[in-house]
Amino acid sequence: MAVEPAVYGSSDRPPRGNYARAGDDYTCAQDYAAYSAQDHDTYRRLYERQAVLLPGRACQAFIAALPALGARDRIPRFEDINARLAPATGWRIVGVPGLIPEVPFFTLLANRRFPVTDWIRTPQEFDYVVEPDVFHDLFGHVPLLFDPVFADHMQAYGQGGLKAHRLGACELLSRLYWYTIEFGLVRESGGLRAYGAGILSSPGELQHAVASPAPQRLALDVERAMRTRYRIDAFQETYFVIDSFQALFDQTAPDFTPLYERVRQLPELPAGPPRATSQAQPSGAAAG
Ligand SMILES: [Fe+2]
Repeated sequence: MAVEPAVYGSSDRPPRGNYARAGDDYTCAQDYAAYSAQDHDTYRRLYERQAVLLPGRACQAFIAALPALGARDRIPRFEDINARLAPATGWRIVGVPGLIPEVPFFTLLANRRFPVTDWIRTPQEFDYVVEPDVFHDLFGHVPLLFDPVFADHMQAYGQGGLKAHRLGACELLSRLYWYTIEFGLVRESGGLRAYGAGILSSPGELQHAVASPAPQRLALDVERAMRTRYRIDAFQETYFVIDSFQALFDQTAPDFTPLYERVRQLPELPAGPPRATSQAQPSGAAAG
């Protein structure tokens, strides 16, 4: 049965991806035969560009697990990654045609299934692609699924997401996802390092997040993260820092029900640090 694509935000063009290929759970087989030589070359070039930037910027667990993705000169086969990932942490990756709605997304995570978009950006989108593609999803997210504590955290997030959906609190939880799983920093012995997939899959954001003096970097405060708007069209102006994946797991383990109630009563916080002079939001900028 065909399923409807997920739509996030407003856009004049239809969501990307062929949803006719997806089953009721929104998953689909990786259409490996559909990849062109150009697609594989795009993956190879993205991987090469990002790999040289990782030392000193990516967290140790990510660097240690990255080789487990296998092929770097072409798009890996999901089944080959699963042959290593499933024995390691019980997680499996599953193909999806693109962004999927909240409930199927959380249901997959709660069952230790990570949805990976199977198409890759065009060469014209080499530096920026609007929706997450196979490079972002694989390179950014999958290595840390080999880490036992992070793997448990991702499953707990899925379970928490299903609960947030019942409580009408998905928007608040999505901010926490944004500031941790997508754009989180961790303090390691060598200094600040990235563990968020949105940072790890972007050359510009990787350098900005770890080294730029411009953004504010705050110790992770779950309530504050849920109140803080975020940028979807520019580098982040705020990053939240954890001390370890265990600390992240412990901080996000409590029942969020009373927290959601409290945050709903509090004003939102801006995406960036307070400015000395008031500044209008540039036209066209968006914050979630
Ligand atoms: Fe992502």
